[in-house]
Amino acid sequence: MSHTREFPRVTVPVLMSYKAEGRKIVGLTAYDAIFAGLEEECGVDFLLVGDSAGNVIAGHSTTIPMTMDAMLFLTRCVSRGTSRVMVIADMPFGSFQVSTEQTIANAVRFLKEGGAQAVKLEGAGYLLPTIQRLVEVGIPVMGHLGLTPQKINIFGGYEVRARKPQEARQLVEDGKALEAAGCFAIVLEKIPSSVARTVTSAVSIPTIGIGSGPDCDGQVLVSYDLLGIFDKFRPKFIRHYMEGAQLIRKAVSTWVNDVREGEYPTATESYGDEPDEGTSSPRAKQSSKASRPKK
Ligand code: KIV
Repeated sequence: MSHTREFPRVTVPVLMSYKAEGRKIVGLTAYDAIFAGLEEECGVDFLLVGDSAGNVIAGHSTTIPMTMDAMLFLTRCVSRGTSRVMVIADMPFGSFQVSTEQTIANAVRFLKEGGAQAVKLEGAGYLLPTIQRLVEVGIPVMGHLGLTPQKINIFGGYEVRARKPQEARQLVEDGKALEAAGCFAIVLEKIPSSVARTVTSAVSIPTIGIGSGPDCDGQVLVSYDLLGIFDKFRPKFIRHYMEGAQLIRKAVSTWVNDVREGEYPTATESYGDEPDEGTSSPRAKQSSKASRPKK
């Protein structure tokens, strides 16, 4: 067996080398193949299949209801839609809290069945031995500190974390402990810039900020926020790079109107009686190619 073929995706050592080089790491969330492919084309380093899918895909008010089956399905979609980025699967609530054995079994599924290259899990403390074991068996782990949405029932809201000195100190210690346990990166969500800066200089692994200021080693955002598709709630750190919700509303309502007014479809958008016209869509072309016998 040959191992000489280069691994085609962004790897853990590559991301870790970016910190040493001072090159910012860029990640985004993705939940389906088409969006994931587009995001990859734009040059992101990693795609996180976030359990934020609970909010933006499934329509829940928290991430708590997300299941292994749902996250595995989404991870498979993102993996199939990409070939270069690192795909990181977010371990859903309940999938890593019960025991180290169950956590490993679940994380293994994300790599084997989901096609992910790494997993992310929220928290530190009691999870450190589990993280160490995951890394030992060959599963790269991204940590997540600060606002950890799976703790919503403890926190009682989505406010900025680590504003109090004691919580900030604990967060810095947790960052160091995650590095010692073998995490290759740490997401810092919604903490003061000063605390994110302290963690970033206290660890040699990259910190990836979301709502945590400019001094992290990289940034990640929920793609629906970046694109302005989710416009019901907009925390201060979200910049809409397009007004996706408005564009979608405008496009769909124009189409609804065109259909009602008999302006869609026109003759040029309809099929005549000539043969071969069924292969004019890229999808039809693809499947007719796939079913053609090879010469
Ligand atoms: O689930 C998610 O999208 C996340 C990001 C916000 C980091 O965890």
